[in-house]
Amino acid sequence: MKLHTLERSFKEIFNQDHEQCFFAPGRINLIGEHTDYNGGKVFPLAITCGTYALVKKRNDRTIRMASLNFKREGVIEGSLDELAFGSQKGWINYPNGVVKLLIDSGHAIETGFDVLFYGNIPNGAGLSSSASIELATGVMLQRLFDIEIDRIELIKLCQKVENEFIGVNSGIMDQFAIGMGKEGQAIWLDCETLEYEYAPIELKEEQIVIMNTNKRRELASSKYNERRAECEQALERIQRKLTVQSLGEVSLDEFAKVKDMIGDALLAKRAAHVISENERTEKALHFLKAGNLSAVGQLMNESHRSLRDDYEVTGKELDTLVELAWKQDGVIGARMTGAGFGGCAIAIVKTEAIDRFIQNVGTHYAKECGIEAEFYTASAGEGAHEIMKEKA
Ligand code: GLA
Repeated sequence: MKLHTLERSFKEIFNQDHEQCFFAPGRINLIGEHTDYNGGKVFPLAITCGTYALVKKRNDRTIRMASLNFKREGVIEGSLDELAFGSQKGWINYPNGVVKLLIDSGHAIETGFDVLFYGNIPNGAGLSSSASIELATGVMLQRLFDIEIDRIELIKLCQKVENEFIGVNSGIMDQFAIGMGKEGQAIWLDCETLEYEYAPIELKEEQIVIMNTNKRRELASSKYNERRAECEQALERIQRKLTVQSLGEVSLDEFAKVKDMIGDALLAKRAAHVISENERTEKALHFLKAGNLSAVGQLMNESHRSLRDDYEVTGKELDTLVELAWKQDGVIGARMTGAGFGGCAIAIVKTEAIDRFIQNVGTHYAKECGIEAEFYTASAGEGAHEIMKEKA
């Protein structure tokens, strides 16, 4: 959808022109999966699709919100005095949570606003549409009310919305990638220290293809929390032998020495994934910077196998897509991305082979899983920002 279509929609819905327009992307993760909440490393990038927010400030305490993705819900009217979470309130919990937490942390938001959201991230695909709407709202409020908050603080606040307001116990990767994205760059992040480094993705003859399983991510959050708890238990047992604060601090060599002490095969597998994934993520930075894309591809393949066999978060659809991808000509590497349990996988594919790739993988996937997959090419885009009028 074009920006001027969104502008027209704002006018139709709210009977006036909008004043400012903001955008926050979605994200994919190259490698470093289920490591963020274990104090490990991640390597995501912001993509070019995401969430738009068109807004006009009001003079009273009313907040009116609409979303072109939920047209049937129409305009939802609330107020600065009614921001509490509500299980019936659906998507508006995300923007409400950001408003509430900014106010709770002492920032002055004294008037309401009219806002229209539109997201072109495929629905429920695990490309972080929730962190995207959080950051779009965060940057919007920051500008609208001249709030002094630095970007990392805003990212942490949006993670807090997800953890404490929405009740999903996720790590910081999604908000960080969406808040800090840069065109043409992936972000290598140490989730323990929040030190980060940009690494250019200079794909000359290849592209990143997102493969959407189109499988509903049922039970995703309960399974996610189960994995978190398993990692905590594995850490406790490892801490009897090693002085570490997180699994992210344990090297593969150290793990080999303490592994048997864990005394539980399942917990040992979970820890093995996190610790090996962390090392793969370190190596991926090195190889990407050295321009060795095929080594990055190998690491991505190993990452998927580890998520499939040790962490067990893939499932039939993601495995089928990725294993089909591995068999195609021109594929540098492929793996699931995000939390898993459905959602999306990514592949790095030679540009000239993409059409055949999509055709082959799509046909076999539909046969094996009974669902049509969707494919999109992705590139690294800018993090959350205001879209200035003259550029629109
Ligand atoms: C979800 C969470 C992230 C991260 C990934 C798995 O996307 O929101 O914090 O844990 O899963 O790597």
